[in-house]
Amino acid sequence: MSNWIEIGKVEEIPKLGARVVETAKGDIAVFRTADDSVFALRDRCPHKDGPLSQGIVHGHVVTCPLHNWNIDLESGEAKAPDEGCAGRYEVKVEGGQIFLSI
Ligand code: FES
Repeated sequence: MSNWIEIGKVEEIPKLGARVVETAKGDIAVFRTADDSVFALRDRCPHKDGPLSQGIVHGHVVTCPLHNWNIDLESGEAKAPDEGCAGRYEVKVEGGQIFLSI
């Protein structure tokens, strides 16, 4: 069964920005894209644990701030030629409120 937690409003995250949610499973980066989609990934790059929440968001991709790997926000997978997965979490938006499943 999913355990949905309420983590705030979409409008509280700047477009192309992210916020970090601290959980018992570690930090989770919640991203807002230009088209107001919301995605959640483990806040650790699959390369060398760079903080993806501080990366550059473009389209449905975040570029890691450390060595510029591109991570797909929908899957958490690194874009080729790089390989690895940041681990993604389910999110849903209801009435402008974001819920995260952990
Ligand atoms: S730690 Fe993210 S690209 Fe190296």
